[in-house]
Amino acid sequence: MARIAKKLPNNCNSSFFVDNTCIDCGTCYWVAPDTFKRDGSQSTVYFDPESEDQVQLAHVAKYCCPTNSIGHVGKHSNPPPFPRNLEDNIFHLGFHDRKSFGATSYLIKSESGNIMIDSPRFVRKLANRITHAGGVKKQLLTHQDDVADAHLYKKEFSSTLYFPSADKAPARLSVDKLLDSNQDEIQITPDLLAISVPGHTKGHFCFLYKEKFLFTGDHLCYSKHLNHLYAFINHCWHSKELLLTSVKKLKNYKFSYVLPGHGSPYRFNTSKEALASLNQGISWMESNM
Ligand code: SF4
Ligand SMILES: [Fe+2]
Repeated sequence: MARIAKKLPNNCNSSFFVDNTCIDCGTCYWVAPDTFKRDGSQSTVYFDPESEDQVQLAHVAKYCCPTNSIGHVGKHSNPPPFPRNLEDNIFHLGFHDRKSFGATSYLIKSESGNIMIDSPRFVRKLANRITHAGGVKKQLLTHQDDVADAHLYKKEFSSTLYFPSADKAPARLSVDKLLDSNQDEIQITPDLLAISVPGHTKGHFCFLYKEKFLFTGDHLCYSKHLNHLYAFINHCWHSKELLLTSVKKLKNYKFSYVLPGHGSPYRFNTSKEALASLNQGISWMESNM
């Protein structure tokens, strides 16, 4: 629970505030950019949310914060409705976990069985809501960093857990199926393809759903600052050369909605636009590595 006694001095006059336990994971300022922004190495409330949407998103950010560093004074709202719909049958699970440095996790709702991509913190209320939405049949982990409480959701839903063969699974995780990192791609379901993209880690995978939604973990995201897709060359734990090769590999696939582990999900109007942005990102990486 955020403490008003620890409130950071740069917060503006608002019923929301950030306290000094913020780890600068970046979640609040992509979820509610009208209210939160980065301020040095932490986050702050720079604008008191006014409209209903702004207030609602500020509450969503509060419940996403992995360190409970966001406080709200005054009338309490109900917890936001996670899973939160992003588009079609794709949902944001919220409740980001400190163990994965606040990485985002997602749920694909499907009649043939729901699929969780990466994992949120285990919260009973969220687990109950996921149960209400049909539970989880498969859990897919992009790489070794964004595991969070995947083991607890596996126990809750008796799901089948997939993990990259070339990454190191934490001891708490019991893996059902290894994703063979030596294969370029693996068909998980008729609609869902796992694409091997080593670089950030040795075994990193992206997951492409319906040739539209690309779940990228820590491989690729959209930068509002650069105005194009790019990979985190400064947070690359295995090989920058392989990272670049793996970003180039994505040119062979059709997608238009990028859903990363860190940073805001980003929707392009067309897959052609996404490809153009990917090419810009590749040129940027080639001149900045
Ligand atoms: S979500 Fe929480 S930890 Fe992350 S930047 Fe915002 S206040 Fe800090
Ligand atoms: Fe990572």
